[in-house]
Amino acid sequence: MKHNIKEVLVTYENIQAKVEEMGKEITKDYQGKDLMLVGVLKGAFMFLGDLAKNIEIPLTIDFMAVSSYGNSTESSGVVRILKDLEGGIEGKDILLVEDIIDTGLTLNYLVNNLKSRGAKSVKICTLLDKPERRLVNVEIAYKGFDIPDEFVVGYGIDFAEGYRNLKDICILKEEAYSHIL
Ligand code: PRP
Ligand code: MN
Ligand code: MG
Repeated sequence: MKHNIKEVLVTYENIQAKVEEMGKEITKDYQGKDLMLVGVLKGAFMFLGDLAKNIEIPLTIDFMAVSSYGNSTESSGVVRILKDLEGGIEGKDILLVEDIIDTGLTLNYLVNNLKSRGAKSVKICTLLDKPERRLVNVEIAYKGFDIPDEFVVGYGIDFAEGYRNLKDICILKEEAYSHIL
């Protein structure tokens, strides 16, 4: 598996330092609020785990799983809910936790969806952002890193369901995915 990696883009250590910073900011901003972290499966599972450890106020955690129709490397804009929240979110301050924002279509859909359920606030926390790829504007409250338009994997992010367990965020070698483009 490792031999398909071209280079490390963000090291685990750099991620941890950033996540600590983000956790501190969220801790400060959400004092006295009814914070609920909503992780977007599967990509966000690792980031959410590390982020939650760095937030020092009471909070709850739930997950959603969504899938965009289309092939595995391009988002289509049509989003389908595969796993929904367990309970209602009326009056809650929701922080959507994502690993990466690409076109923005997934989060644009989720923000509108959660707002329509009566959340008090819905904000976005993403570890990575690929601004070059944006199709729809989404407001990002907390961002880890801007990254170039490269095919990245690791720290939760997959290619064909693989590589999610890598500690670093890595750029995939072109030959690993060129056959499906
Ligand atoms: C990836 C990534 C984001 C989304 C970003 O998830 O984890 O959730 O795509 O793309 P967008 O901004 O263009 O909508 P994916 O659909 O691959 O599912 P996964 O998290 O289970 O890998
Ligand atoms: Mn995802
Ligand atoms: Mg994926």
